[in-house]
Order: sequence, then C-alpha cells, then structure tokens
Amino acid sequence: MKFAILTLFPEMLEPFLHGSILGRAIEQGVIEIELCNLRDWATDKHKSVDDTPYGGGPGMVLRVDVIDRALAELKSKVKGQRSKVILLTPQGQQFTQATAEQLVTDDRDLILIAGHYEGFDERVRSIVDRELSIGDYVLTGGELPAAVVVDAVARLLPGVLNPESLKDESFSTKSSITLEYPHYTRPDSYTPISQQLGELTVPDILKSGDHQKIAAWRLNEARKRTHKPL
Ligand code: ADE
Repeated sequence: MKFAILTLFPEMLEPFLHGSILGRAIEQGVIEIELCNLRDWATDKHKSVDDTPYGGGPGMVLRVDVIDRALAELKSKVKGQRSKVILLTPQGQQFTQATAEQLVTDDRDLILIAGHYEGFDERVRSIVDRELSIGDYVLTGGELPAAVVVDAVARLLPGVLNPESLKDESFSTKSSITLEYPHYTRPDSYTPISQQLGELTVPDILKSGDHQKIAAWRLNEARKRTHKPL
C-alpha cells in the first residue's frame, strides 16, 4: 500500500514515519510513504500556497488551485484512479479502529492532505473523497493526524507486524472483547520509588505454567476491562 502525504512541513513527519516498525516496513517494501511538499506545486517565484481570506479576517488560507494541481499529479502517480484522497480536519468524521480496518479492506492507496495555518479554501472539500478527524480537539496542523492514520492503517497490513501481535488486540472491532488483558514482565515484585504503594506483584496464575488457566484468566480480565464503566 502506498501513502502520499501532502504537507507544508515534510521534515516534521520524516523521522516518525521512517523510524521503528514503519521504517522497517518501508525497507521491506510492504508500504511506501511519499512526503510531498505542497510548495512544489506553487507557480510563482515566492512559492506561495496560501492567500488572504475573501471578506477579510486574520490569517491565510491554503489555495484550492495549488492543492488541486498537487492531487492531479499525485493521483496519476499513485495507481491512477485507485487512490483515495483524505483531508485531515477537526471537522471530519471521527477516525476509529473501524475506519482503519475499512481503509485496509478498500485496498486503495491513500493521499492524505495535512492542512495548516487558518485553514484551507472551502472548495478543497469538493475535491477530496473523505474528511477525517483524529479527535475532538484542534491541533496546529494535520501532520500528526496524517501520521496517526498512516500508522493505524499500516500496522494492519500483512507483513508489517508479527501476526501474533494482532491476534487478540485492543480495539479490534472484529471481536466483542475490545480491550487487552493485563501484561506483566520481570521483576516479579516491585516497590515504586516515589509512591507509598508498597510492593506490586505479578498475579501467581501467570507463573503457574498452566496455559489453560492462564488463557481463561486473560479472557476474563479482558472482559472485565471491556465492560468496566469509565
Ligand atoms: N487538524 C487539526 N486538528 C485536527 C484533528 N483533531 N484531526 C484532524 N485534523 C486536524
């Protein structure tokens, strides 16, 4: 699957998207991520991508013509008509695990537009397929939201994670139990330094070696977490 992110700040995304698990997936050719600088589609010598708002008011507005030119070129490179254009905006539809699963099932390459500054010309909404928000808060730009979408989608693609890691994971909408069971590792007993909590221990059952009992305990804990009122 190929992801293209249209942004004014490709350098913000570069370390995150090329590090760790996503970096390995890129090296192995499972995913491709292209960071595209919107300024590359500006036509004047100042490389302007925005302008003052009609009707007055503060700030600058990203121009529809610049974004449209960028999309036309990216679409012709990214599997032609098989790409889907997503605008990241706080007004968009809430991005959830179900959305990530759906985007994987759709199997279309994604072009993600990260808006910035005051906003974008309203007509940009007419030239995208979908608007997504990563939550009910306003960030300074769409870069982090675009990275969130790429990360959540990419990790579901075959070959990105070890299949075991996805098997009974938190938030999978394919199961009625949506939260993971608690995990523990060494040390077996630990007393936190700065809190008066006393000794924190690992449940004995996890050290019992009885795999059936352990599986039953984990299932029960996951159920309790899933159904516990917030
Ligand atoms: N741009 C700014 N805030 C955002 C959010 N919460 N989701 C998506 N895009 C955004």
